[in-house]
Amino acid sequence: MAKRDFLTITDLSRQEISRLFDLAERMKKGSYQETPLAGKTLAMIFAKSSTRTRVSFEVGTYQLGGQALFLSSRDIQIGRGEPIPDTAHVLSRYVDGIMIRTFDHQEVEELARCATIPVINGLTDLTHPCQVLADLFTVREALGGWEGKRIAWVGDGNNMANSWLEAAAVLGFELRLACPEGFEPDRARFERAQQAATVMVTEVPEEAAEGAHVVNTDVWASMGQEGEAEARRNAFKGYTVDADLMKLADPKAIFLHCLPAHRGEEVTADVIDGAQSRVWDEAENRLHVQKALLATLMGQ
Ligand code: CP
Ligand code: NVA
Repeated sequence: MAKRDFLTITDLSRQEISRLFDLAERMKKGSYQETPLAGKTLAMIFAKSSTRTRVSFEVGTYQLGGQALFLSSRDIQIGRGEPIPDTAHVLSRYVDGIMIRTFDHQEVEELARCATIPVINGLTDLTHPCQVLADLFTVREALGGWEGKRIAWVGDGNNMANSWLEAAAVLGFELRLACPEGFEPDRARFERAQQAATVMVTEVPEEAAEGAHVVNTDVWASMGQEGEAEARRNAFKGYTVDADLMKLADPKAIFLHCLPAHRGEEVTADVIDGAQSRVWDEAENRLHVQKALLATLMGQ
């Protein structure tokens, strides 16, 4: 059977996402005791920092009977310029799957093309599909699903926003993104989502939040953009998710943030630490959803 990668949400169909979430739910409830990764190893390459992705993949692999290797790209030869295809060929001879977090999305695609084992995208500058899978699972858990729901994105049209667009393209829910001019999400992903779902990009946060069932945001300066932080703080003035913005959403709306968060910038403390916030469930769900993904891709 051909190996399968997970580089973007659109690598999965609606049915596959549903099956994956059923499995993740069993894992979360503790009614799944199998060890499909027994004797198997996941290599985890990180060119950027991580708390949740690193820990949830490492713990998840262990819980499924396997072991995970943390490989900082600074310490392996990739950091000294060893070509991606060579790295792919060599790792394919040692391990059973690769999770990679890096800057350039094309590097992940090249790694996946050259490796004979599954490759999982643990975040690039372009997308963050593992996080949005966990977010969708959190929405299903909190609201019963995304059918007929309006999802709001307020802030930077970044890797998270792009993965939400991919999710809308597969699942067809309504997505409203409020981003300042010049910080809109990826055009191609927006157009693809438009073919399958009601999506809009506005510069007005209130338009996105109005009647929303999920209000979502993320940092204004992503990893690699630290030098732009000050300019971005100015550009994103007025895009903070605060209690007034949450009041425009559905009364039962939940607040999501992939974390790490900057209280007082993209979200106020009363919102992220308040009753509507599901950020800790969201972080926990990374573990369950990725375990389901690992069992599906690597457990054969
Ligand atoms: N949300 C997320 O991916 O967190 P980390 O950067 O800590 O992995
Ligand atoms: N957009 C953020 C997400 C961090 C999990 C970043 O890329 O830094």
